[in-house]
Amino acid sequence: MSQFVAQSKTQYDGLYEESIKNPEKFWSDFAENEFIWQKKWDKILDFDLRKPSIKWFEGAQLNITENCIDRHLDTIGDQTAIIFEPNNPNEAPQHISYCDLAINVNKTANMLKALGAKKGDRICIYMPMTPELAYTVLACARIGAIHSVVFAGFSSKSLSDRILDAQCTMLVTADGGYRGQKITPLKEIADQALENTDCIKQVVVLKRTGINITMQEGRDVWWHNEFNKANDECPAEVMDAEDMLFILYTSGSTGKPKGMVHTCAGYMVYTNFSFRNVFQYQQGDVYWCTADIGWITGHSYILYGPLSAGATTLMFEGVPSYPDMGRFWQIIEKHKVNIFYTAPTAIRALASCDLSFVNSYNLSSLKTLGTVGEPINLEAWQWYDEHIGKKECPIVDTWWQTETGGIMISSIAGVTEDIPTFATLPLPGIQPCLMDDSGNEIQEKESEGKLCIKYPWPSMARTIYGDHQRFKETYYNTFEGNYFTGDGAKRDKNGNYRITGRVDDIVIVSGHNLGTAEIENAINEHPRVAESAVVGYPHSIKGNAIYAYITPRGEFDDSAIPSLQKEINELVSGTIGPISKPDKIQFTNGLPKTRSGKIMRRILRKIAENELDKLGDTSTLLNPECVQEIIDGRLTD
Ligand code: PRX
Repeated sequence: MSQFVAQSKTQYDGLYEESIKNPEKFWSDFAENEFIWQKKWDKILDFDLRKPSIKWFEGAQLNITENCIDRHLDTIGDQTAIIFEPNNPNEAPQHISYCDLAINVNKTANMLKALGAKKGDRICIYMPMTPELAYTVLACARIGAIHSVVFAGFSSKSLSDRILDAQCTMLVTADGGYRGQKITPLKEIADQALENTDCIKQVVVLKRTGINITMQEGRDVWWHNEFNKANDECPAEVMDAEDMLFILYTSGSTGKPKGMVHTCAGYMVYTNFSFRNVFQYQQGDVYWCTADIGWITGHSYILYGPLSAGATTLMFEGVPSYPDMGRFWQIIEKHKVNIFYTAPTAIRALASCDLSFVNSYNLSSLKTLGTVGEPINLEAWQWYDEHIGKKECPIVDTWWQTETGGIMISSIAGVTEDIPTFATLPLPGIQPCLMDDSGNEIQEKESEGKLCIKYPWPSMARTIYGDHQRFKETYYNTFEGNYFTGDGAKRDKNGNYRITGRVDDIVIVSGHNLGTAEIENAINEHPRVAESAVVGYPHSIKGNAIYAYITPRGEFDDSAIPSLQKEINELVSGTIGPISKPDKIQFTNGLPKTRSGKIMRRILRKIAENELDKLGDTSTLLNPECVQEIIDGRLTD
């Protein structure tokens, strides 16, 4: 086991201390020992967080796929790299060895090249969770094209916005994607998106479901035709450490999603480091992260982290509820999964089902459990511990973000203590701090504040694609010289962190980051909507749910409500995606505003949360009378 993987609390303390005292030496030793480089760096770290400008391993050259694939071929070439478990339990799983992965990624890379892709191009990937999605992501990295994966649950409008923002020249998609009993018509959605995007010159279509689609002559080609023609050796493009590896969009406080940019070397180094430490992966283990590759968790902890560590990583195409609520547990038994990493929302949904779904399966292969994406409530944590881990598996509650690239605060499985509902301690190299409302760092150990990170770490996002100013304003202006996470946190007397949730206009619904402004913009497109305000409120399964307050335009009577609600839901689904649909829509004659006309979302949030005693003074509002009307008409469960 590497000296960089903590095996005891003392070793963790030692690593942490070294990483803070001399971060450059720490990361340089790790990078030097644990990866293959085409050229070593001239400088480990160069940064100025006020600009912000962040450069890790400058001067180094590498290709991440050589570290994720080629270097394993001589040693563990026959070991399974990816286990693919299809949506339908009756379809055979695939075991893709590192040697098979090499062939498939190289062929895909040559296919993309033959179709005109080259280093620096942005390639949009809108695919179901199939092995070809993994091949495409890695093939982009192999040829130095920048991948922008768009989650296959997003609408055509979200897809076209993302394609346009990054000016992607190629789209890789599928005819359709299986999700439980449903088929998502991905190509049809992509066709709508492409009506408004003329930057895409080439579309590659994987046949997955066999549903009818139309192919546009000269633009669209079938994956199988092109893939079969491609050679299985493709030299890895030489990449500079700070060349872009990928763009991944995340919601922002304004309506426009932010294309977070991650670069080659730092991302590789930190996803490998955090994967091996947090999960304590050992050769031969089967590791399963249930996220979709459309999100950062899938990028970092289905693909890059595990593969660079030579792990066996399971990819599941389907959903936890199909064919029934025992599907996750059935997969664990079937593939003898040792490490299982999922989201609190899935745990809550599964915990609400009959225990017989769990108890019908043998889960004794499990050694470690993990959660990510939102705070985990105590009941869900205890259920996970008792019924899935049988009180014998450590649970790592991993706090991190699309922006951070890798896990930042988490216990280390079996090595540092896990504490229910606490993410616990920072990983080596990570220096969190709490800020008070006047922008000062809180020195007391036991405290609560806004969570920032003081010092650079290798996998931090470098910019927002095409908008560095927004990057600076969103993350670095609020607390100068610090990265502001947008989360609130508590710290106990031993330095353990407990994340309390977002302190900005982002709501996390079923683990998905949703910007309330983006949902409002979609709702406001409806001709009968004058104005809207969207807030989150607690929900027993989803963590949070969306409450939309809408002032209708023109004459309005209650009989119009059901059809209008339906139209608004369809509009939001069509504009952003079904995950953003409001759970509650309340129509009102006015929204509470300040004298300068700003909507007081804080009051609306309190009403949605049913915390009527915490509304504060409403008498100074421009229109205080509307508050009572909203309270009287509020929608409760
Ligand atoms: O609010 C935090 C929450 O998810 C946000 C990041 O969302 P996203 O960029 O989509 O990445 C999700 C997967 C890494 C954070 O700002 N969050 C994530 N993990 C946790 C969490 N909140 C509490 N506990 C966690 N373990």
